[in-house]
Amino acid sequence: MLIQSNHNGGTPAEYALEVKSEQDTVAFARAIAELAFPGTVLAVDGDLGAGKTRFAQAFADALGVKDIVNSPTYTIIKEYEGADLPFYHMDVYRLSLEEADELGLDEYFLGEGATLVEWASLIEPILPPERMHIRIETTGAESRMVVCRPVGEIYENWCAQLKLRPILKGEGTA
Ligand SMILES: Nc1ncnc2c1ncn2[C@@H]1O[C@H](COP(=O)(O)OP(=O)(O)OP(=O)(O)O)[C@@H](O)[C@H]1O
Ligand SMILES: [Mg+2]
Repeated sequence: MLIQSNHNGGTPAEYALEVKSEQDTVAFARAIAELAFPGTVLAVDGDLGAGKTRFAQAFADALGVKDIVNSPTYTIIKEYEGADLPFYHMDVYRLSLEEADELGLDEYFLGEGATLVEWASLIEPILPPERMHIRIETTGAESRMVVCRPVGEIYENWCAQLKLRPILKGEGTA
């Protein structure tokens, strides 16, 4: 698979993190939560059972959410109060793009909290202009390849701060 570099050529389009255990996923979610600000949008993808919801739970916990964070597959959107920021958790697996558009998700994206969208690539056209894509690929029982694609300068900076490994052009992720 060829990974395209983005417009300025010098910046890698994607960054990788090899995760060996569930605890590593939790630690990564915590590190991201440290960087979160009002209006943060995490666009999460990955196959069934890859760990999208597990990541969301750890992220919420790190934001100081005390409630239990369940998969929002049936409720679509759940709002939680956090100590630092509100947390908006979405799962758009069952939505068409049109339905998602009608839900007015922008109010969340532009809101005071941090939003995490599971299956975000299904609604990519209506995601805000700046967001962090996080794709979780299952590589073993507990091992995962986490691929981050920052869109916008803030999220580019995150990848540098998180010391993620740039994926070089032409390099596969598997
Ligand atoms: N490295 C890991 N990271 C995250 N979860 C892991 C890891 N290793 C094992 N797991 C387990 O994998 C499962 C992931 O389930 P989870 O509900 O988070 O997946 P999901 O991607 O949200 O699935 P769905 O597509 O159904 O929403 C959990 O039971 C978790 O304990
Ligand atoms: Mg899930």
